[in-house]
Parts: sequence; C-alpha cells; structure tokens
Amino acid sequence: MNRRDLFRTTFAAGAATALSATRVQGANDRIRFGLIGSGGRGREDWTTFLKQPEVDPVAVCDVYGPFREKGIALTEGRARGLKDFRRLLDRNDIDALIVATPDHWHALITIAACEAGKDVYCEKPLSLAVAEGRQMVQAARKHNRVVQTGSQQRSGAHYAQAVKLIQDGGIGQVHRISAGFQRNIYPGLKPTEMAAGISPEFDYDMWLGPAPKRPFDPFRCIYNFRWFWDYSGGQMTNWGAHHLDIARWIAGMEAPTEVAGFGGRYALTDGGETPDVQQVTYRFGKVVVTWTASEVAEGKPFTLDVFGTKGMLTLLRGGFQVFPEVKAKQPLMEPLQVKGADLNVQHARNFLDCLKTRQKPSADVEEGHRTATMCHLGNISTRLGRSLNWDAAKEQVIGDSEANQMLARPYRSPWRLT
Ligand SMILES: NC(=O)c1ccc[n+]([C@@H]2O[C@H](COP(=O)([O-])OP(=O)(O)OC[C@H]3O[C@@H](n4cnc5c(N)ncnc54)[C@H](O)[C@@H]3O)[C@@H](O)[C@H]2O)c1
Repeated sequence: MNRRDLFRTTFAAGAATALSATRVQGANDRIRFGLIGSGGRGREDWTTFLKQPEVDPVAVCDVYGPFREKGIALTEGRARGLKDFRRLLDRNDIDALIVATPDHWHALITIAACEAGKDVYCEKPLSLAVAEGRQMVQAARKHNRVVQTGSQQRSGAHYAQAVKLIQDGGIGQVHRISAGFQRNIYPGLKPTEMAAGISPEFDYDMWLGPAPKRPFDPFRCIYNFRWFWDYSGGQMTNWGAHHLDIARWIAGMEAPTEVAGFGGRYALTDGGETPDVQQVTYRFGKVVVTWTASEVAEGKPFTLDVFGTKGMLTLLRGGFQVFPEVKAKQPLMEPLQVKGADLNVQHARNFLDCLKTRQKPSADVEEGHRTATMCHLGNISTRLGRSLNWDAAKEQVIGDSEANQMLARPYRSPWRLT
C-alpha cells in the first residue's frame, strides 16, 4: 500500500484547497469544521469552537462509538459521524480539522490533513517524536496550511503580558525558571472506559494505528494512553508541554543546549510506564529551566515561577503575580497582580482569525514542534540516565547515537509518514 492509497488524497481535495482559502476570506463566511478524536479534550475543544459564530460543524470522527455520538450530540445533530479519518480528508466540504486523538496519531493525521488542503488545530503535545514534528512543520509550509498547536496558554493575554514584562526587564535579570506539576494519585489510576472488556463499538486496530500491536487492555486506551511510551510521554508531554512551552517563550530561544533528566515510575502500581517522579534540568544560555513532576506527593499542584534579580513572577492559568525581592527592608519593585481570562476561547479565536488572515497562529506548528522537542529530550535523557547536548539546528543529540535513535518512532505497517 503506498502513501496515496493510504490516504486517498484525491485531486478534487487538492483543488478544494484554493477554494477553501478563498471562501474564508470574507469576514462573515462560515468555516466548515471536522473533529477527529471526540474524547475528553476533543469534546472540550468542540464545545469551545461551536460557540464561535463562523464555525459550521460538518463531521465528527472517532473510533469509539459512544464518544463519536457524544461529539455529534454537541452539534445538535448538525454533524455526521464517521469512523475513519481518511473519509473526512476525502470530503471537499471541510475547511479545518481539530485533531484531538492520542499523541501517536497527531503527526500522521495532521500531515495527511495538510496534504488534503485542510487547516489544522492539533492538540498538544504536537508530536510523539522529534522527527514527526519536523515533518509536520514541513507539511504545513509546503501546503500553505495554518496549523495551530493546542497549547492554549500561548493565546492567553495575561501570558503575553507577563512574558513581555519579563523580557522588558520588569523583574530584573532572569536566570532561573521553575515549572512543575504535582499531585498524589498513589497507588495509581484505573481504566475509564471498557473496564469489563472491549466494546464492539471500539475499533482497536484503528486506535492503535501506527503504534505496536498489543493485546487489548482498557487501561492503555481511553485517557490513560498518556502513561505508555507507545502513545505518549507521561506528565512531561501532558502538563510539561504547557508550562515548558511558556518557559521556552520567556527564555526567548528555540531550544535548550543541554538536558539532564532523572526519575522513573517508582511508586504507582497501575501498570503505567512513564515516570511518576521526574526532575529535568535544561540550559538555555544563562537561564536554567527545571521541570519537576510528581504523581505521588502533592505539594504545590502547578508551578511556573520565574526568578529575577528584582522579583519573582508566578504565572498560572488564572493570572500572574509579582513578588518583589526585598533588600535592606526595601522592596526592589512594585508588587503586581493580573487576572487571566478563558484561554480556550482566546486560543480558538486566534486560530479562526488566522484562517482568515492566513498568518501564523500564536502556537504555530513550529513553536509546538520546538516545545514538544524540549519535552521529548527530557524524557530521552531520563530514560537513558545521562545528560544530552542538543544541536538545535541539526535537530540531533551531539555524539549520542542511541539518543538520536529515540528521536523517531517506528510505525506499524501499513502506516508510514513519508
Ligand atoms: N490542551 C489541553 O489542555 C489538553 C487537555 C487534555 C488533553 N489534551 C490532548 O488531547 C489529546 C486527547 O486527549 P484526551 O484526554 O481527550 O484523550 P481521550 O482518550 O479521552 O480521547 C482521544 C479520542 O481519540 C479517539 N481516537 C483514537 N484514535 C483515533 C483515530 N485514529 N481516529 C479517530 N479517533 C481516534 C479515541 O477513541 C478517543 O475518543 C491528547 O493529545 C492530549 O494531550 C490537551
């Protein structure tokens, strides 16, 4: 089976590209949407987009029937249900797609969608592996598609305000950023669906797609795929993809030069594979960024703390706050507190506006790729138990062939990227 057979990207779909681009130019025009992956986050995205005036829901695709039906119900029956995403790509009446499948499908579907002339809102983490992300960027550029990574913090006005304040020297010189996610779920999580056995409404082979064939296990599928290397990268690519994205934005660099990770699945007994305790340190020039994750001791749940010579800024979804450093009982700056607004709406609006202007969105595919790369490097270093030196221009680990092999993932036949 060649690539064309796999995706059946027809000339008609290609011709629709120009048509789609023209029809979204008018300010009042409708934009015809499809949803691929109608699970927890897919339905959340769908709900947000459906509230926007120009969004016209056409199709909902999921390999699990009950979730597909829930996605259709959100449209009050306006969208039709499809089981195979390739049938959405074949359709000329869809301009844009939301891809909210598990991570191991993001690259394949996004690239095929770009080839079929669709614009894409692809959930974070953009990729499962570094090599995939680079190919996603190339596909978006080659086919002139708008590809937004679903990192909604990137569109938050208060995030942009905080980043500008920091980059303008508002908290002095910044040399340390501490990001993290901590909770206590000991002894672990349980399957969320199909605990009693596989449902006839679930196409398991199509759920696996390019991932290795394994006997069905409900804990590996819906929601909990996050804790298995075949499909995802644990909390590092789950919450790390959000907070490290902002840390990288603040640092103002494409990538770190050095990465050192520690941790493992030490305590949880639920059968997952990804670390339940992890600490990763990144060098960004003269800024040290750390990622601290724990699934077995809560402490402070979310952290994104930026330390400057004049003050510390703590930046979260609800807003940011600046705490001045004090010297000789004198604060070195004014304290400040700013509230945030709904990030999902701001991010959806940014994507929709870019569909009309054809400008790069706030979490453009290249930004999503760079941040996913940062996460993947943290995991590779943790798994190999050694630090890595990263050549960002070549997208290669310097002098470490074993680490470089982990920058790509083998695909199960007949799925392939190129
Ligand atoms: N931006 C955010 O804040 C945020 C929040 C949660 C999840 N996410 C991301 O969203 C993605 C989905 O996470 P989730 O929690 O919704 O998982 P989920 O398991 O609840 O949903 C994924 C859905 O995709 C479906 N699916 C799998 N393969 C498919 C295929 N080939 N075609 C069509 N549908 C397919 C599954 O059946 C399932 O319904 C992940 O990448 C996750 O990182 C982002």
